[in-house]
Order: sequence, then C-alpha cells, then structure tokens
Amino acid sequence: MRKKIVAGNWKMNLLPEEALELYRQIDSDYCADDCELLVFPPIMYVRDLIAQHGQISVGVQNFHPEESGAYTGEISVSQVSSCGVKHALVGHSERRMIFNESNDFLKEKINAALTHDIVPLVCCGEPLEIRDMDSHVAYVTNQLAETIGHLAESEIVRCIIAYEPIWAIGTGRTASIDQAQEMHASIRYWLKNQFGEQVGAIITILYGGSCNASNASELFACPDVDGGLIGGASLDAASFLKIARSF
Ligand code: PGA
Repeated sequence: MRKKIVAGNWKMNLLPEEALELYRQIDSDYCADDCELLVFPPIMYVRDLIAQHGQISVGVQNFHPEESGAYTGEISVSQVSSCGVKHALVGHSERRMIFNESNDFLKEKINAALTHDIVPLVCCGEPLEIRDMDSHVAYVTNQLAETIGHLAESEIVRCIIAYEPIWAIGTGRTASIDQAQEMHASIRYWLKNQFGEQVGAIITILYGGSCNASNASELFACPDVDGGLIGGASLDAASFLKIARSF
C-alpha cells in the first residue's frame, strides 16, 4: 500500500500569529484516519510549529545543500535538520523559475536532504507551451532523470514525488482527471523502469495545481494519484482538512 499524503505549501503567506493559529486548527481537527498531513510554512515559523509537538509534520520550503559557508541569506541543510525538520520541498516550479534552480542544483539538494534524513518532496511539472506541443511526458521524465535518476533503491524509496503542471499552479485551472492520471501513470512507469517494478509501485506521487476541497476527491480517485500538494487551499484549515478526507 502506498502512503496517502496531503501537503500544504504555505508559500510566503501568513504573519506569525496566523501561522500558529492555522497549525493549531489543523492539528486539533486532524483525525488519524485521515491521510498523513504535512505543512511547509515560511522558514521563520518552522521551529515554533515543531515545538507544538503536533501530529502534523512541519517541513521546509527551501534550504541550501551546503553544510555552512558564505551564502548570505541562505539556511543550510544541517541547520534545518538540527531543528528537527524531516521533510523539504525540492524543485518547486517557483524555485526553478524565479530563483533559477537547475536540475543539477536540485540533484545536490536531494542528495543533501537524504544524507540528513530529510524526505525530499520532489516537484516536477511542465509549462503550458510544452503541454501544447504534446511534449509534457518527455519533459517531466527528463526532470526526474536529471534530479533523482541517480539515486539508489534505498534512497528513492524515501522520496515523495509531486506532479504540478505549471499552468495549473495558482491559476484556478486544474489538470483534468485524464491529464493528471496520464502523467502520474507515466511517472510511475518511468520509476518502475528505472528502479524496478516493486519500488515504482510503492512511491507516493502527489498532484498539485489548483487542487481544492471541491476537486480533490475526483483527482484522488485516479489510480496513480496518492494525494495532493496544496497551495492556496492549504491556508484555510477547514478546506485543507476537507481535502485530507477526500480519499
Ligand atoms: P496552488 O499551488 O494549489 O495554489 O495552485 C500549488 C503549489 O504551488 O504547490
């Protein structure tokens, strides 16, 4: 059985009291029968939220793969690890596009995370022009080949993958059920080819991109969709929990 996961990417939103309140609301209404929940708050709230000792895991949206050094403004993998962080987003399209993170750099981040016992939630997804050219499967599998293709079996089984078509992020335009299932099945096919049938079968693949409380159940009903990476709709406790109950 694959793990069902719903993860909330809070991006650069919420003031400190709001973040604490949102975490407390989600945590107090969460029931263990729901799927596993993760939240990715802005970095400055991470320690406070971990100190709540709640049931909901708190991860980081970003970190630098070096242990320490002259990287003004960055936070190292060992620094986040020493705060008790167990999950990290890697390869989100906003990091790739706005902060120019290349596949090579993402590979370093994934290696660093795994070395520090942090589960990388590896994001992939195509821009609209690639989908319009019908090259989306090749584009996404190339992103995966260049970021996780080198991992050993013992490493890939610790990763979570999130497929997020860029044209669906924050746009209100969700991938159709057929589009989501087609890509998730292609990712799983690639994983099985690369790492073997059994390994490919157990890796959790999340869908992200305008996923919300109204469309989550039909997306999660797709055979290869194991949950969601939620942006906007994760900022409201009730809608985030409704998504978590959509399996
Ligand atoms: P969205 O964001 O749900 O607001 O589209 C998803 C994401 O960026 O992870």
